[in-house]
Amino acid sequence: MKIKDKSFKVLINEEELQKKIASIAKQINKDYKGKSPLFIGILNGSFMFVADMMKHVKLESKVSFIKLSSYSNMSSSGSIKELIGINENVFKKDIIILEDIIDTGLTMASVTEEFKERGASSVEIATMLLKPNSLQVELDIKYVGFEISDEFVVGYGLDYDGLGRNTRDIYQLKPS
Ligand code: IMP
Repeated sequence: MKIKDKSFKVLINEEELQKKIASIAKQINKDYKGKSPLFIGILNGSFMFVADMMKHVKLESKVSFIKLSSYSNMSSSGSIKELIGINENVFKKDIIILEDIIDTGLTMASVTEEFKERGASSVEIATMLLKPNSLQVELDIKYVGFEISDEFVVGYGLDYDGLGRNTRDIYQLKPS
């Protein structure tokens, strides 16, 4: 696949993705039995992950989205911007954050901190992808879909310069 000047190859296909998402949801159904967690997706990248995940969640639960961005183009800027759309009351709620990818971990560190400050009973993270070698902070990540190398990825919600979100597979940048 080509996006602008870059070429990408399939890294994780639709079937592998969907299998993994179903198994994470199954685990969440088990771990949160009898509870009513609030799922919070991080826009824009998580929209497909959230949609597919929620089809398997059997719990009485709410879904909401927030937006923030520390990323422009292909490298993390490292600076955290404000949360937008956090109007759902998280006080005394069990929060499960649904994220597309964790790179430096700075975004997730600040989001979890914010929810804890707002009095959430518990805050856990479910991420579709994790780049363990890029992590800059200590993060307790309860649910991880796939651990991947540091190479840039697109597809299934993830973008390169705003493009490439609308695919069923996840693609990795081909070395030039
Ligand atoms: P972090 O704060 O460095 O963990 O950045 C997380 C955010 O960076 C994600 O929500 C993505 O929006 C973006 N990101 C990190 N790595 C990639 C990538 O390989 N492709 C597309 N977006 C990425």
